[in-house]
Amino acid sequence: MKAAILTVSDKGDRGEREDRSGPALASWLAERQVEVVFTRLLADEAGAISAQLAGWADHADCDLILTTGGTGVSPRDVTPEATRDVLEREIPGIGEAMRASSLAKTPFAILSRAVAGVRGQTLIVNLPGSPAGAIENLAAVWTAVKHAVSKIQGDTSDCARAAASEPSTRA
Ligand code: MTE
Repeated sequence: MKAAILTVSDKGDRGEREDRSGPALASWLAERQVEVVFTRLLADEAGAISAQLAGWADHADCDLILTTGGTGVSPRDVTPEATRDVLEREIPGIGEAMRASSLAKTPFAILSRAVAGVRGQTLIVNLPGSPAGAIENLAAVWTAVKHAVSKIQGDTSDCARAAASEPSTRA
């Protein structure tokens, strides 16, 4: 699998904060044999975020795009809106599962408005901006993300078989 990581942060863009979330996600993916082919940091500007997501999905060879940051409720948080603008099909369950899982860790989990979905043959997933939050949210949906990437790219195998071989997250 090939992935791109977009860090969204005004402070990072101004050089006032080191991006620790993008590198943390890159390491986490590398440990799972995912090749990180692009990384970028952008300010919380919806137009630039949408353009980068669409550019990677349409012209770069990447199966998965992760964003980190800008999913909350501060006035400048626009990542979900920018993502929704370029999605062709939304997958609400990914955001729902991330919030449900994270609620066990912090009551603030429900403030993340993260969305996920498909553009072309690429899965796009929003994650919160803190390094721990980004990893916790991704880990919560990782099994389904891998399955979604195969399905998006045309895997026609029986889903029931794949589901039967995965342990239930409710166990
Ligand atoms: N989810 C997990 N698992 N861990 C966290 O620390 N932080 C929350 C939430 N989700 C958090 C989390 C907080 S404090 C906020 S404000 C929202 O994600 C949105 O974060 P963002 O604006 O950085 O994207």
